[in-house]
Amino acid sequence: MTIPIIAALLTYVLMLAAMYWHRFRRFHMTVMMSIIAFDVAMPFYLVATRDWKTRLLIEGDILSFGVWMHFGLIITLYVLYVIQVQTGLKMWRSSRKGLDAEELATTHREHRAQGMGILLARALVIATGAILADPADML
Ligand code: HEM
Repeated sequence: MTIPIIAALLTYVLMLAAMYWHRFRRFHMTVMMSIIAFDVAMPFYLVATRDWKTRLLIEGDILSFGVWMHFGLIITLYVLYVIQVQTGLKMWRSSRKGLDAEELATTHREHRAQGMGILLARALVIATGAILADPADML
């Protein structure tokens, strides 16, 4: 298993903890924001440290099903993150803005359901990434 996969698995455990302790808002929001930043930074790190030209173009991996599945899942995850941040901020501001109770309950439900989707999409991103990872690139 490569270091980025191990790091991603550790952040997954952290994400589960932050989801469980969602009532500690500051902890929940800080951890989730950091993990989103980690997920956005990961492709830049991988492009900077791997020989993508050889892997994708010369060896022809760009036409493989695995690469496109991984890519599609990452886009799905980013879209879910955008919606999740919006509903999260809506709940956060609710104490100041005075959302009515029904709207707040709906937002909670949406945020929770999207959270489940994020856990699933992120698990699949990490799993497909682990399948694609070249053990020669440990770091
Ligand atoms: C980074 C953006 C996020 C922000 C700003 C945010 C913010 C919040 C806030 C303010 C709450 C309400 C806490 C409470 O009073 O109980 C909450 C609850 C929750 N969050 Fe997040 N969150 C974010 C990301 C996530 C992610 C990525 C997940 C899942 C992987 C998640 C899962 C949950 C769950 C399950 C709840 C409980 C919902 C409920 O009470 O029904 N959040 N979040």
